[in-house]
Amino acid sequence: MQPAKHEHWSSGFTFLLAAVGSAVGLGNIWRFPYVVAENGGGAFVLIYLAIVFVFGIPLLMSELMIGRSSQKPPLSAIQTFGRGSRAKKLWNALGWSYLLVPLGILTFYSVVAGWTLDYAFGMSIGTFNNLEDGASASMFQDLLQSPIKLVFWMTLSIGITVGIVARGLKSGLEQTVKILMPALFVILIILVLYASITGDFAKSFAFMFEPDFSKITPELVLMAAGQAFFSLSLGSGAIMVYGSYLTRDISIPKMAVGVALADSGVALLAGFAIFPIVFAFGVDHSAGPGLVFVTLPIVFNDMGGIGQIFGVLFFLLLAFAAVTSTISLLEPMVAQLSEEGTFKRARAAIYSGAVLWVVGVFVALSNNILSDVHPLGFLPLFEGKTIEGVIEFLSANVFMLLNGLLVSVFVGWSIKRTVTLEEMGLGDSVLFKIWFMLVRFVVPLGVGFIFYDVVL
Ligand code: PHE
Repeated sequence: MQPAKHEHWSSGFTFLLAAVGSAVGLGNIWRFPYVVAENGGGAFVLIYLAIVFVFGIPLLMSELMIGRSSQKPPLSAIQTFGRGSRAKKLWNALGWSYLLVPLGILTFYSVVAGWTLDYAFGMSIGTFNNLEDGASASMFQDLLQSPIKLVFWMTLSIGITVGIVARGLKSGLEQTVKILMPALFVILIILVLYASITGDFAKSFAFMFEPDFSKITPELVLMAAGQAFFSLSLGSGAIMVYGSYLTRDISIPKMAVGVALADSGVALLAGFAIFPIVFAFGVDHSAGPGLVFVTLPIVFNDMGGIGQIFGVLFFLLLAFAAVTSTISLLEPMVAQLSEEGTFKRARAAIYSGAVLWVVGVFVALSNNILSDVHPLGFLPLFEGKTIEGVIEFLSANVFMLLNGLLVSVFVGWSIKRTVTLEEMGLGDSVLFKIWFMLVRFVVPLGVGFIFYDVVL
């Protein structure tokens, strides 16, 4: 059978919608606000933004470049470039890591995406109306304790993702982001306007932008780096595979800057949608992962009738943000199987979805029935971690950073400078030299240092 044809984005704008769609996800709207709250506000935001610009943009450019220049999915792309190199084996391993990390992320991401579907549905049928004190926390616990619910919503989330990816780049991914991304922005703006009119905007602004420098510790820098990588979809094949569908007339540096600005912009906006109302209602803002699932239903409930509408909007926003990310996480594997292998795209999507589902069930159940299973628990680093904990730690904290580190070495030292020079389209300018210097020295040393601190 002929391998599937390699499609291209209709325009730079549709690429941008898709790449921003990948970057903007649960990481921005669910994770960012609670991580900011847990890490003391302004200082964290400042370090996070610095990492996005100094490490994030150069890495986005590097990954887009590998994808576009090779016109192949991540594993084959990295293998192609690595072929002539002395470190061929290392690059081969890097390719595999770029293929498998997104699937690892998808296993737990699909479970959380399922929570957002459950909440959007629950909000719309009024499950969260007239909440008694404490009811919101116990409803969240009930969800986590229910194997059936978790698996049901996760299955729906994976099903939607498979359905979209199976249809291909133009009729699947592009169509989806063209509808969901504008909807996402509109909902977010409505929520921010509402929060800033009714909530405590001034306090939120001070909380997010007035850094208390005494709070900056090595741990805070680590958290900020992890958040930045995850939020920009780096080190995971998503950006690289999207880069492979870029045509040559599109400027990689411009696209990378666009993605970084939009992604951090949305994270900050999510903060401004959540903190003002959280502060105004005097609920605990450092509620951890439960911040949006436990705290916000209380706030929406206190608002009366209109609260339900905002509640539905908010959880739909989360669900949309999740879908435009999950499709980018499944795409590397599906593209690899269908373009480089002999599978039809739809089959490739279904098979990958099936494998994902099986692992996903274990991840979902590690919240309840399997909560006492601690794989790798004999290693100090993994002590007490559940199946979910191990997969999340390995894919999001270890391999994403490691991939980012290695890819910068790959682009900076292994791929020919003439290739990078041409792909960037900046000429041999100061900008190109700055990028090249960041990728050769600053990113590997910086990420290496952070990695050393987290893992070793
Ligand atoms: N960037 C997404 C988010 O913030 C998650 C993601 C990671 C998507 C890696 C694709 C690849 O939610």
